[in-house]
Amino acid sequence: MSDEVKRNLIAGEWRAGGDAVANINPSDTNDVIGNYAVASIEDVTAAIRAAEDSAADWGLSGIQQRHDILQKASTEIFERREEIGRLLSREEGKTLAEGIAETTRAAQIFGFFAGECLRLKGEKLASVRPGVEVEISREPVGVVGVITPWNFPIALPAWKIAPAICYGNTVVFKPAELVPGCAWEIVEILHRAGMPPGTLNLVNGPGSVVGQAILDSPRVRAITFTGSHTTGSLVAHASVKVMRKFQLEMGGKNPLVVLDDADLETAVDCAVNGAFYSTGQRCTASSRLVVTEGIYARFVEACAERLQKLVVGNALDEVTDIGPVVDDTQLQQDLRYIEIGRKEGAALRVGGELLQRDEPGFYLQPALFTDTTNEMQINRDEIFGPVASVIRVKDYDEALHVANDTEFGLSAGICTTSLKHAAHFRRNAQAGMVMVNLPTAGVDYHVPFGGMKGSSFGPREQGSYAAEFHTSVKTAYMSP
Ligand code: UN1
Repeated sequence: MSDEVKRNLIAGEWRAGGDAVANINPSDTNDVIGNYAVASIEDVTAAIRAAEDSAADWGLSGIQQRHDILQKASTEIFERREEIGRLLSREEGKTLAEGIAETTRAAQIFGFFAGECLRLKGEKLASVRPGVEVEISREPVGVVGVITPWNFPIALPAWKIAPAICYGNTVVFKPAELVPGCAWEIVEILHRAGMPPGTLNLVNGPGSVVGQAILDSPRVRAITFTGSHTTGSLVAHASVKVMRKFQLEMGGKNPLVVLDDADLETAVDCAVNGAFYSTGQRCTASSRLVVTEGIYARFVEACAERLQKLVVGNALDEVTDIGPVVDDTQLQQDLRYIEIGRKEGAALRVGGELLQRDEPGFYLQPALFTDTTNEMQINRDEIFGPVASVIRVKDYDEALHVANDTEFGLSAGICTTSLKHAAHFRRNAQAGMVMVNLPTAGVDYHVPFGGMKGSSFGPREQGSYAAEFHTSVKTAYMSP
């Protein structure tokens, strides 16, 4: 570990700020990855002011300049994917393969938005008044606050920062405290790639201080947030007060429906991947496996068998399938829910035990509950860990009803060989994303991402749909 403290970027300068916090490896808590400066309130104020001061010029910057910066970042992230992917796995705990894949995804997102810069378009319409022309264009919003969670330390910052830059906004970025490493790398890369002073600012620190200062500032004209429902609601309230745009992604309780006619192997692959990969710490995770009677016993048996074979261990170890839980707080939450499930009468079919490994870390055996009902708390709340439940249903109609009976609506999956049921589910699942014979988690980077009901608020992220949030529409009427 180097003694050097990684600083925050404010108004184009790397500032030391107040205290520094250690970035700890959840696979081995003796491993300190580095120390990261915490931004003071003065730092956050300066960052917001710098972003505001640079917004007008940056908003008028050429698309070639913005394209080149985003393209450079994409190329560098891709070239350094093994190194950054390793840092990601070290600080977050997902496996090395997952860390490298996520880093590659971040590179692809930057590449996509580099291209989008060159496709900025408007519309020209005839007016209802003869001789008048109407032109509709998209303009930058101004200062965008980017607040990201710990579970995708590089992909989520990428899919919020890349479109903000692409559409000419300036950024104040507050990453999750648990994963300052990838956040720092991405900002450093963009800074070197040519972001002018003030246009991109990094402010590390706790949500209650740094996040709150961003929320409270009327200079921040839009906030894009991914995280918990509770914090999302704080973002919403604070934003309404100052009449700013906001975009919230707040998790899920995603169902994977498995019908009698499903291919068993496909269904088990989808369930195990969707529920447990990335240690189940994805808002798209399939935490409710809704299974019809005819396949129930075979499905549970095959899932249990597969789960017992998964290697839980150090994220950096090549043989590991499932890394540790991100930290002790999350681990305690997972254990608490496992206890709640037991008390509610669910049967713990596999896992749920703490595991000892050579290094001290937060190792939990993936847990599968059976004999659960959709009313149980373990099937209502987002646990955000390697814990999933099987819910037995009579037929497709009941499966669809159970799938939709949740306050969330991010992703919903179905495993079936019936075109009729797949098509009906695609139309009737109350979710922003529907997966047929695919895991509920693991999405493409060039198409819209987002949910319905309590999962999301505001316009979609990703793909060309990102323009909706990151721009303001101007309608101009012109008479010669
Ligand atoms: C994915 O499943 O590929 O925080 C991405 C999350 C989501 C990203 C999921 N916003 O888990």
